Amino acid sequence: MSMSQPPAQSERDSVSPPRVFDTTSKLVAFVIGVLAIVAGVGAGMFNPFLSNSASSQGILIDALFSVLLGIATSIFVIVQGFLLYSIVRFSREPDDETDGMAFRGHTGLEIVWTAVPAAIVVFLAVFSYQVLAEIEQPRPDELIVEVTAQQYAWSFFYPDLDLTSTELHMPLDRQVLLRMRSKDVIHAFWVPQFRIKRDVMPDRLTEARITGTEIGTYPIVCAELCGVGHSYMRSQAVVQSAADFLSWQQGLIGAKTRGAGAKPADPMAAGRQLFTQGGCNACHALADAGAAGQLGPKLDGIGTTAATRVLGQSAEAYIRTSIVKPNDTIVPGYQPVMPQDYGQRLPPRNVDTLVQYLLGQK
Ligand code: CUA
Repeated sequence: MSMSQPPAQSERDSVSPPRVFDTTSKLVAFVIGVLAIVAGVGAGMFNPFLSNSASSQGILIDALFSVLLGIATSIFVIVQGFLLYSIVRFSREPDDETDGMAFRGHTGLEIVWTAVPAAIVVFLAVFSYQVLAEIEQPRPDELIVEVTAQQYAWSFFYPDLDLTSTELHMPLDRQVLLRMRSKDVIHAFWVPQFRIKRDVMPDRLTEARITGTEIGTYPIVCAELCGVGHSYMRSQAVVQSAADFLSWQQGLIGAKTRGAGAKPADPMAAGRQLFTQGGCNACHALADAGAAGQLGPKLDGIGTTAATRVLGQSAEAYIRTSIVKPNDTIVPGYQPVMPQDYGQRLPPRNVDTLVQYLLGQK
């Protein structure tokens, strides 16, 4: 019976557990505080998770992310520091069966741990709002680009220039307003270096603003699972000088004029150019056009093999069908991922040029 009785009051007082708020604890708290500040500032300044940003919006987003990372790192060091210290210093001794110290709260601590997080949350809310407002700020000279997503391709229409491209070209330091819509399912426009990712939906217009600040070519990635060709639904964003942007523009205008006008003087050269500008090279390999795409069938020698593909169908008819109605001529082993609308996207003259060019690939 006597064994199960609690120790007498005098016995309990004889054991003197370490005081929680003694000098050692205050010193440790100070050291943890200093470590937290150093770790937080270090993590924020040398943020290892992001490569360099290539847009002005990305620079602001990175600043916000660095501040978040710095604050999170500080809090991590504080929480883990006090946890480790408490485990080591205030552990129960092997034979110690006494009660722990009784606490009834600590007003000072409670004020601190309520006020500090509240201040952090308010600061982050204000900072985030400022960044969001800034990256969505319209600019008077912004270049409008209408982005169309479809299984499994991107296309970019410049209404002011009346030009369509399979790549997104952007003049350096000029804001581009992307107005995005999908023809079928939900896709997502993402350029990691621009730090911009936005859903592209069939029933709703979504917008994004990007100002390229570094000349270069950056991958456009579809970031929403949209079907068998999702992982191949890629293009490129090209940030270029105003002069390069202009000459790219003139190249496209030239191709368009040739498409509408008379027969091109050099049909093979015109076909080769269309093959690249139309984006065929992204998915098909063809030595003559310097193309190395892997997604679709290789097109070297297609002028010869086309006649043998479908019984009773001429080489020319087969190639034409493969461009304008590709799902009718799926080569075994390949997925039906080619867009079905090249017949609407390309002027008839350009389809003819492409067919003749591919027929010539003996
Ligand atoms: Cu489009 Cu994934």
